[in-house]
Amino acid sequence: MSPAPSSDVNVLLVDDLQENLVALEALIRQPGRRIFQARSGDEALSLMLEHPFALAILDVQMPAMNGFELAELMRGTERTRNIPIVFVSAAGRELNYAFRGYETGAVDFLYKPLDPMAVRSKVNVFVDLFRQRLELQTIQAQLERAVTMRDDFMSMVSHELRNPLNSVYLQAQLRRKMMSGPTPPDRATMLRMVERDERQIRSMIRLLDDMLDVSRLRTGRLAMDPKPFDLAELGRRVVEAISEQAAPAGIAVTLEAPAELLLEGDEFRIEQVITNLLTNALRYGDGKPVAVTVSAGEGRALVSVKDQGMGIAPADQERIFRQFERTEGSAAVPGLGLGLYIARQIVEAHRGRLEVVSELGQGSEFILYLPLPGAAAA
Ligand SMILES: Nc1ncnc2c1ncn2[C@@H]1O[C@H](COP(=O)(O)OP(=O)(O)O)[C@@H](O)[C@H]1O
Ligand SMILES: [Mg+2]
Repeated sequence: MSPAPSSDVNVLLVDDLQENLVALEALIRQPGRRIFQARSGDEALSLMLEHPFALAILDVQMPAMNGFELAELMRGTERTRNIPIVFVSAAGRELNYAFRGYETGAVDFLYKPLDPMAVRSKVNVFVDLFRQRLELQTIQAQLERAVTMRDDFMSMVSHELRNPLNSVYLQAQLRRKMMSGPTPPDRATMLRMVERDERQIRSMIRLLDDMLDVSRLRTGRLAMDPKPFDLAELGRRVVEAISEQAAPAGIAVTLEAPAELLLEGDEFRIEQVITNLLTNALRYGDGKPVAVTVSAGEGRALVSVKDQGMGIAPADQERIFRQFERTEGSAAVPGLGLGLYIARQIVEAHRGRLEVVSELGQGSEFILYLPLPGAAAA
């Protein structure tokens, strides 16, 4: 009996005679199997409570507790009930023993003198069955996890969509009432209302786009369309667009960028990444200024988005790039936890890197690295 990795399959041999145990073990020993020996029913039971067994081979004739009695005890205990049993008996004897109550577990017989081929093939059958059962259990656990995740996801999405939809609906009702009232709203009021609708609808479209991207990533259909583009120009455009949202909230977004920085990549997807980082900086940035820097050096271009908000604890800094992962501190801000996951996949498809530097309560800096044209892969 040698110490073995946990993926080994355990087989238990029970016989009161040491020489029988040794002979049997020699017959069935092989890599990937761990053989346990017990000299009595008691010893066997305590081993069975301690280890999972693919199979127990029981000598029928033992002094204190015979093999059939041991089997009945096994049948009475949850943990040992389903261990398949192979009885070893002298041919022609004990066969009239009425063995009852073991209908759930598999039961089989071997006769003395033992035929090595028969022993080996029986043991192989039970060990294979055990392995298959373990595999099924793993698959079942994975399926259950997937179902739970799907349910959580549906409830998050419904929640995220319900609020903006509800608000647009209420606005529409309000407008209908105003239109049919004595003093219809003026153009300026109407314009404000429509702009609000647009913001809500945009956020719903973004959410659905994220979900579509995740499903495209899963099926490998998130294709990149690389072309030359100017990262500095893109930076200016994204910062300008985001400032429209930031300015009313009193948040300053600054940009430092060279006049021109030519790259090769999918401009639309890189824009999506930077917009995502900026949206996060606004949402989790505590209303404080956000600084964007575009630069180049060491064969790569770099976009840094730096806020002075809640920050991210070291333990969360890798996790947030995975699907649905959000920090505890950000729970008050609604979100699905998909943005950074999508962003990192896009960046990696460009042979780049997306990293975070942060400390809890000290703000966060997200840095996007992209290879410069002609540079070796990062
Ligand atoms: N600038 C930031 N400051 C603090 N935490 C952040 C920042 N950006 C992202 N996070 C954390 O990472 C999580 C995942 O972000 P993301 O994938 O964009 O999803 P979402 O914004 O929908 O939650 C956020 O929920 C938040 O906990
Ligand atoms: Mg986000």
